[in-house]
Amino acid sequence: MADQYVQTLDGEQPPGPGSLRWDELPEGPVLVLLDQRRLPVEEAELVCTDVPALVDAIRTLAVRGAPLLGIAGAYGVALAASRGYDVAEAAALLEGARPTAVNLGYGVRRAAGAYEAAVGRGADGQRAAAAVLAEARQLHREDAEASERMARHGLALLDELLPGGSHRILTHCNTGRLVSGGEGTAFAVALAAHREGRLRKLWVDETRPLLQGARLTAYEAARNGMAYTLLTDNAAGSLFAAGEVDAVLIGADRIAADGSVANKVGSYPLAVLARYHHVPFIVVAPTTTVDPATPDGASIEVEQRSGQEVTELPAPPVPATVTGVTGLPVPRATEAGSGLSGPPVAPVGTQAYNPAFDVTPPELVTAIVTEEGVVSPVTGAGIAELCARSRQV
Ligand code: MRU
Repeated sequence: MADQYVQTLDGEQPPGPGSLRWDELPEGPVLVLLDQRRLPVEEAELVCTDVPALVDAIRTLAVRGAPLLGIAGAYGVALAASRGYDVAEAAALLEGARPTAVNLGYGVRRAAGAYEAAVGRGADGQRAAAAVLAEARQLHREDAEASERMARHGLALLDELLPGGSHRILTHCNTGRLVSGGEGTAFAVALAAHREGRLRKLWVDETRPLLQGARLTAYEAARNGMAYTLLTDNAAGSLFAAGEVDAVLIGADRIAADGSVANKVGSYPLAVLARYHHVPFIVVAPTTTVDPATPDGASIEVEQRSGQEVTELPAPPVPATVTGVTGLPVPRATEAGSGLSGPPVAPVGTQAYNPAFDVTPPELVTAIVTEEGVVSPVTGAGIAELCARSRQV
C-alpha cells in the first residue's frame, strides 16, 4: 500500500477542545458543547440554556457518541433542575432524543434518580439541583477513568492477539475524545498503541452518510500525530484482501445480553469481512453500554434517520442560531436529520434507506473490551459474568 497517502501532522498537536462542559454564567447555568456538526471546519461552541436546545443538539448530532450522550443527558437533567424546570418531563424528553445508545437513558436515569433521592431526603430545589450536578460530574469522571482502563486492556489484548506487532488498525465512525469524558473507546486503544510506538497505521472509514470518520476521527488522529489514512467505507473489502488490516477496533451504542453489538451502520459488514479474512474484530465499550435488559440483537431499536442525509452530501451548517432566554445563542430546531444538509446527490424525491446503526451478532465479535476487562469469547454467559462483576464494584 502506498505510504504517500499517510496523513500525519508534524509532531503532537494539542488534543483539542473538550467535547462538553458545564458553565455558570451570570444569566444562569448552561451546558456548552463543542458543535461536532461544524468539525473539522471550525471548533465552534454551542451553548444550551435549556433542555429543548440540548435535545435538538442530540438529534442533530452536535453532540453524539454513546458515552458522551450519557454524560450530556445527565447534565441535561442538571440543567432542568438548576433552572427550575420539571425534571421528570425533561428526563423523558432527553431519554427519547435518540433510541439506540443505551448510555443516554442510563445517564438521564442516574441523574433523575439523584434528584428524586435528594428530594426524598427533604432537600429544597437548590440542593436537589446541586445533587444532580454532582451526579453528572461523577458520571463524567467515571467515563474518563473507564477510557483509561479500556485503553490499557485493549492494548494488552492487541499485544496478545498480534504479538510483536506494529499494528494496522481499521476503525469505523468516531470513538475518541469527542465521544467521551476521557480519550474514548476504540480510538483510545489505537491512541495507546500510537503512544507505545506500536501503531503502524490507523485506517479510518469515512463512515457514510454523515462522515463521522472523515470529519471527526481523522480530525482526532491528525491532532494526535497518528499515522492515518482515510478510505471510503466500501474500499474496506479490497484493503482486507490486500492483507493490510491486522485488527478492527470499533465502539458500540448498545450491547445486548447475548453479546450482540449495535454500532454505527457499516460495522456489521466489517465484522463479516474480518471473519472471512481471519482478522480480529474487537469492540471497545464501557460497561454503561452493556444492556442486560435487551435480550438479543433483534430486540435492539435501530434509529432510522431522515433519507435526506443520504440524498444530500453532508455540509457543516451555516450559523443557525436564535437568541435563548439568557440572550445566549441556542440552536434553531431543524426539520429533519442532522442539519448537515448540503448539495443533492440524488434526484429530487428519491427515497433512501438510512438506519443509523446495524447489529453484529456475537459470534462475529472476537472480544469486547470494557473497563472491567475483556469478554472473549463473546457469549451470553460472558456478558452476564461481566455485568455481575461491574455491578459489584
Ligand atoms: O450516530 P453517532 O455518531 O452518535 O454514532 C456513534 C457511534 O456509532 C459510535 O461508534 C458509538 O457511539 C461508540 S462511541 C464510543
